Amino acid sequence: MIRAVMPCIGTALAWRETARGFLASATPPEAISWDDTTVQGRLFDEHQTRPPDRTITVPRAFLSMANTVVWHSDPARFARLYAFLWRLRDAPHLMTDRGDRDLAVLRAMEKNVHRCQHKMKAFVRFRETGDRDDARRSFAAWFEPTHHTVEPTAQFFVRRFADMNWQILTPGISAFFDDGQLRFEQDVPRPDLPADAGEELWITYFRNIFNPARLKVQAMQSEMPKKYWKNMPEAAAIPDLIAQAPERAREMTRAAPTLPPARLAAIRAQQATNVSAWDGSHEELPAAIRACTRCALHRSATQAVPGTGPKDAALVIVAEQPGDQEDLTGRPLVGPAGQLFDKVAAEAGLARTDAFVTNAVKHFKFVPRGRQRIHQRPNASETEHCRWWLMAEVAQVQPRLILALGATAALSLTGDGADILTRRGRTETGPRGLPVLITVHPSWILRLRDADRRSEALNFFRKDLELAVRLSQMSGCDSTSTAD
Ligand code: URA
Repeated sequence: MIRAVMPCIGTALAWRETARGFLASATPPEAISWDDTTVQGRLFDEHQTRPPDRTITVPRAFLSMANTVVWHSDPARFARLYAFLWRLRDAPHLMTDRGDRDLAVLRAMEKNVHRCQHKMKAFVRFRETGDRDDARRSFAAWFEPTHHTVEPTAQFFVRRFADMNWQILTPGISAFFDDGQLRFEQDVPRPDLPADAGEELWITYFRNIFNPARLKVQAMQSEMPKKYWKNMPEAAAIPDLIAQAPERAREMTRAAPTLPPARLAAIRAQQATNVSAWDGSHEELPAAIRACTRCALHRSATQAVPGTGPKDAALVIVAEQPGDQEDLTGRPLVGPAGQLFDKVAAEAGLARTDAFVTNAVKHFKFVPRGRQRIHQRPNASETEHCRWWLMAEVAQVQPRLILALGATAALSLTGDGADILTRRGRTETGPRGLPVLITVHPSWILRLRDADRRSEALNFFRKDLELAVRLSQMSGCDSTSTAD
């Protein structure tokens, strides 16, 4: 019996190379005993990994699955993978055989690991361990994953917290990110982490988003399993919230508050004229936006994305909020919607570099799903909080015209985010009495499946942008100009 011992750090690469060596030497699965280094030594021959002596081709789909399954906590994972790989040599079609039981087991393990990675991304709670004034702030979190997911998930945290030093400590492998360098260590003792000021905020935030009328205890526990609760400050509030939910839901029904129409009209009027009281300089504004914590969106976004462009532009273009790519690069409208905007703008003769481009909401709002961050439209309160910054940008640039792309921008600029399709192509009065030309958001066009509707939408979007060019070049523009 040959003993193959896999390291707990760099496991994926080690398993691949070892398996490749065994395949090349035609070593059958039953001749190998796979262990990881957490298993105490037994009486087997030590196996030295040796380089393959012939090229082995393995289906890409298997490699991708193996790269995930190696992080499963089942000690039999390496043996299962190799036994399947052994069978694949003569039957490559096995990778697509839905009836194959070995494959089904591996696929289920793969799914478990993905789920565990998802939980890790959602439930790691950092505490600040350094000085808030340090150039790179320092954070640490204690987390207890079900599988060995620290290493394969670490890059997510590197991207998200690139400008901080952080540690994710676990009972197995811990990740350390210091001055931009990522490293892993095994068996780091559990530290005594400080409770931090952010914990109260988490609890308050959780209490506020908790809707007793929509409580489904089972669904909630499957989404946020109990085993993670002990390391999540907000979980302390859950038992009480569940116990009080029926009474709070009944109270909500009894109270059923509605906003009297007169008050709504007053709020809208106030929104349409409200001017930000920001009184800093041009140079200070982007930094102030980046430091914003006015609403909860700053917690999960990578960074706030201030507007860019000439500070004396005749045209301010306002989109909705940063998307995935904008959140990572810190620049507005650079992802797929921005690329469509650039294309149509070029056709319409609108030079983007002459305009000041920004968003109604400065932080990316999303829900994590698997490896993706799925865009969520900002709600009215988030839009209202961020209006402070949009108004400050508009006040500094003092454009001739503002172009509102879609409902969120229209809401922020005119107090009304409804009926964009009937309002588009016309100007309305916005902040500081400036004309706001309403049009659709390019991501709405990207979502249109029907080719005719999409081409119709592109045509009127182009016309709206042409009108924006004309109006922003005029010395004064009235508030009813139309594109059609
Ligand atoms: N969508 C927007 O509304 N703004 C961006 O910056 C990117 C996508």
